[in-house]
Amino acid sequence: MALHYNFDGMPVGDLLPGPRILLGPGPSMADPRVLRAMSTPLLGQFDPEFTAIMNEVIALSRLAWETRNAQAFPVSGTGRAGLEAAIGSVVEPGDRVIVGECGRFGLLMIEIAERCGAEVVAVRGEWGRVLEPEAIEAALRNGPAKLVAVVHGETSTGVLQPLADIARVAHAHGALVLADSVVTLGGTEVAVDDWGIDLAVAGTQKCLSCPSGLAPVTYNARAEAVIAARRHKVRSNYLDLGQLADYWSPKRFNHHTAPTAMVYGLREALRAMVEEGLPARFARHRLHGDALRAGIAALGLSLFGKEPGARRLPFITPVVVPDGVDELHVRRRLVEDFGIEIGAAFGPLQGRIWRIGTMGYSAQRQNVLLCLAALESVLRREGHASPAGAGIDAALAHYASAGPAASRDVDDSLGATGIGRV
Ligand SMILES: Cc1ncc(COP(=O)(O)O)c(C=O)c1O
Repeated sequence: MALHYNFDGMPVGDLLPGPRILLGPGPSMADPRVLRAMSTPLLGQFDPEFTAIMNEVIALSRLAWETRNAQAFPVSGTGRAGLEAAIGSVVEPGDRVIVGECGRFGLLMIEIAERCGAEVVAVRGEWGRVLEPEAIEAALRNGPAKLVAVVHGETSTGVLQPLADIARVAHAHGALVLADSVVTLGGTEVAVDDWGIDLAVAGTQKCLSCPSGLAPVTYNARAEAVIAARRHKVRSNYLDLGQLADYWSPKRFNHHTAPTAMVYGLREALRAMVEEGLPARFARHRLHGDALRAGIAALGLSLFGKEPGARRLPFITPVVVPDGVDELHVRRRLVEDFGIEIGAAFGPLQGRIWRIGTMGYSAQRQNVLLCLAALESVLRREGHASPAGAGIDAALAHYASAGPAASRDVDDSLGATGIGRV
């Protein structure tokens, strides 16, 4: 029996959110083992047991980022806080900063760099395409820059930006490289050391399947030296990477009260990632994304963007809204009738595409099949008909072609041996 209290005439009952399958561009569904870890008893932020957990988080983060960087810890706050911390700790007023922009999150970094007082040079590309390194190089030839910032996974368009060549040209011109990997860490490779990324920022609520609230960051000795050589203090106290690094180091510098339950959650999410194995985890994200896309095509829908598969995010599927279909109505029906959330779009793509995420714990066969069944039904009622079951059949065919591991049916008996016995 749910208890109800009245506050100003408003009945406030027990917290019982409806069941949801989260297939938007984030948040993804939290891994239950992460939620369990988060509900374990709290420790103070200087308790030796907690500082040991922090050290584990650093070690696990290095594995996730594929780096040997000394600095690999989470900033308190969402991905945006991590970006503000990284950009704000490197950039000083008047510094020239080159930002690659071919989507909403490139725009966000322009805005953050401008607020830091940078002279921002935006290298703009078409939404739905990657940026070519030559475009960044041309901007560097026009004048030196302290930082080149690019989005690794442009969640707004579904594009996966290759980074190694951009890092090479940036370094040739003496600039640091920052990658926004908010959507990519945990779902596809982010090889920080091999690609020459100086600073990288992630989020917890996407492919790591942890609630939002921490932003894993890593940066190398080159970036540390630039931060240490600043002429002025970082403008934000809260997002000063140097001070945060001192808390995450044996110095245990007293900064803000650490969100210890979130750190438990991130530790578990990273542990789950390392246990699954990075190649297996990336393959799982690709498998379910590909199965979804096979089903989407069979529903007579097309994908947004012109890039080939290798330059697309495996776990964000941007679907063009068919003519005559009300995109909001479809999303509402999906939530109300099926408890499935998919994403809308930003800016020039608003109303034109849906973004379906198959990230982290959400990347499962059942979710893909349910989503396709639900979409078929909703779209039929909206006037876009497709052959009955075509989406599911195409996805199942994809799973079958991917081999037995991809099908992973439940146990043979399902309890049937007990049915009918007295
Ligand atoms: C690529 C990218 N960068 C930055 C952000 C901002 O992250 P947050 O919403 O966690 O602050 C997002 C969130 O959608 C993102 O997808």
